[in-house]
Amino acid sequence: MNKNVIAICPGSFDPVTFGHLDIITRASNMFKKVIVVVASNSKKNCSFTPEERVEMVKKCIPNLTNVEVVHYEGLLADYAAQIGATAIVKGLRAMSDFEYEFQMALTNKELNPKVETLFLTTSAQNMYLSSSMVKQIASMGGDISHFVPKVIKQDITDRINLKK
Ligand code: PNS
Repeated sequence: MNKNVIAICPGSFDPVTFGHLDIITRASNMFKKVIVVVASNSKKNCSFTPEERVEMVKKCIPNLTNVEVVHYEGLLADYAAQIGATAIVKGLRAMSDFEYEFQMALTNKELNPKVETLFLTTSAQNMYLSSSMVKQIASMGGDISHFVPKVIKQDITDRINLKK
């Protein structure tokens, strides 16, 4: 825990879930400032625009006063250097996340040696939760209120129904 450090919580957040929000909230208690970076994952085709993803995260965290939400296209390691962030915080759900996250952590360290990646163990109730699962449930008319805050539920169902 270091109250002088600026940390980054990156992700595609397509859409943000209770799992992400748990990690963001815990990071906000650990660091001076947390920047949630809505970024692109070259392996994923997002359903929501970057602006929509940013807005959804913002709507969910009105009380986290030391957290900012931004969209950034480019290398995360470069963004961290630009804003003086020295920590990247990510949630780890299961061993299945590990190899990919480990690869990203090592790559980011190579690109920006000043930045450390820290993994927070996901809370037990979010072990199985993913954005793609939320979208699948919404597209089949299921109830997503166990997985995302009420305040963005309609945004998600509207978008999924529009895509049908
Ligand atoms: O939520 P995700 O999809 O697991 O997040 C992955 C993300 C967006 C954090 C990652 O793809 C990323 O950092 N993208 C930005 C571009 C970049 O820096 N790529 C090199 C990562 S090693």
